Amino acid sequence: MALAEIARAIEANGVTPHLKATATQLVFGVGSPDAEIVFVGEAPGKNEDLKGEPFVGAAGKFLNEMLASIGLERKDIYITNIVKYRPPENRDPTPEEIAEFIPYLKQQVEVIRPKLVAFLGRHSMSVFLPELKISQAHGKPVRKGGQVYLPLFHPAAALYNGGMRDTLLEDFSLIPAILKKID
Ligand code: URA
Repeated sequence: MALAEIARAIEANGVTPHLKATATQLVFGVGSPDAEIVFVGEAPGKNEDLKGEPFVGAAGKFLNEMLASIGLERKDIYITNIVKYRPPENRDPTPEEIAEFIPYLKQQVEVIRPKLVAFLGRHSMSVFLPELKISQAHGKPVRKGGQVYLPLFHPAAALYNGGMRDTLLEDFSLIPAILKKID
């Protein structure tokens, strides 16, 4: 299956029609289909909804800086969100909305087959590793069902919180060594 087919399936299957109705467009995901790392955020915000691309606002700029700090650019990775339409007024997605999108997120990961799936925040972590708490799990790779996962703080939460920001930068700095260890 190709990534474009998964995007078409979301439209064809009428996933979260109420979110689709208020969103500008589907924000499916961008980057390399051969990426070693897939980053998973929560849901598109206003900028992402307008541009059709995840993490293009302030949190995205911070993410780009963190990628650069480990020698990566956006074209080297793949980035997506659990929920692929912007929730109105940037409210948190509901558990039902998240549940509707989970099969498509899992398919994206299956198609790309990355070495590492990095979660940006607790919502995306909870999809794959519901038993963990982000406060304890961040920065520690977890192997489950043949896939390695790395929980990270959400860049939007860390952006204006000095302590969390330093922790997120530190956790990011571990990524090259984590990737090297995965065969
Ligand atoms: N926050 C997210 O979780 N995803 C985005 O795409 C932008 C901000």
